[in-house]
Amino acid sequence: MIDGKKVLFSGMQATGNLTLGNYLGALKNWLTLSDEYECFYSVVDLHSITVRQEPAQLRKRARDLLTLYIAAGLDPKKNCIYYQSHVAGHAQLSWILNCYTYMGELNRMTQFKDKASKHTDNINAGLFTYPVLMAADILLFQADVVPVGKDQLQHLELTRDVAQRFNSIYGDVFTVPEPYIGKTGAKIMSLQEPSKKMSKSDENPNASILLMDDPDTIIRKFKRAVTDSEACICYRDEQPGIKNLLDIYCTCTNKTVEEALREFEGKGYGDFKLAVGEAVVSVLKPIQDEFARLSKDKVYIDSIIKENAEKANYYANKTLRKVQKKVGFPEQIR
Ligand code: TYM
Repeated sequence: MIDGKKVLFSGMQATGNLTLGNYLGALKNWLTLSDEYECFYSVVDLHSITVRQEPAQLRKRARDLLTLYIAAGLDPKKNCIYYQSHVAGHAQLSWILNCYTYMGELNRMTQFKDKASKHTDNINAGLFTYPVLMAADILLFQADVVPVGKDQLQHLELTRDVAQRFNSIYGDVFTVPEPYIGKTGAKIMSLQEPSKKMSKSDENPNASILLMDDPDTIIRKFKRAVTDSEACICYRDEQPGIKNLLDIYCTCTNKTVEEALREFEGKGYGDFKLAVGEAVVSVLKPIQDEFARLSKDKVYIDSIIKENAEKANYYANKTLRKVQKKVGFPEQIR
């Protein structure tokens, strides 16, 4: 609790271009929850280097992502928006938690297996212990709730296990966090292979909508989206392409699936795809415009970075000191 409010933590990697999946699965929920909670939104650059990065590009992408959080509507005066690398407590707590996490638990992480198979030349220890760093991110702020897409649920489960294990040894040190998954949009699928998650690392450019795609590109990608030959706009697993488009449409318009099905009853796939594309454009265009405006305001963004790093460090250090004391590290003499 901070000032009587529950705490929310979430983050995104500044690796590659963000997709509509990142927005609908995570960022959009951050916006709806931000009034209710004391929020910490991190640009998790420590996580990014588990895969090789070009330094100048990482720095630019991290700044763009931080700017995008604000452009999407998160007020940086109310929400703590900061770079993970500006808060040393993430790495410090991560080390401690490494000693309370089992190899067997990390071996089960599907995202590790997935990434290791994609980067066979660089299966580094950081990639393996990545979920521990994620647990440290969350526990450092004593977060009650963590809004994420479905692909992060396994990491959240691990975080809860580690927190409970630590608490059972040392007493109530960590808040055990709950995941928050949106009713729709928690797993946006590829437009080309709707059995696969929409991902920023997809090699087929038509598979993903990027948050910075211009309106024509967005519409074109939706027109090319893979559907089926059923000629029925129905919400069912047998029609994964149509189901995904309905999910996207409903999440963008805040309509229920029933409302959408009624709206498109008797319509053809062509009209439907166009409507989905337009719904996405109307969500992304204002964010893109605001992003372009904010990106030019270096002084403002710099001031946000500075203020929020201080705030994040303050809360992070509170938890860190508590943890260090519990495990038996000597107190610093000031
Ligand atoms: P990342 O950067 O891969 O993704 C950021 C957020 O976007 C969600 N997401 C999706 N949601 C729906 N459909 C999709 N196709 C889709 N693709 C991505 C993700 O679930 C995530 O919520 N390890 C995390 C970042 C992280 C983090 C944290 C998150 C580090 N520390 C602490 C929460 C709390 C990651 O790589 O997300």
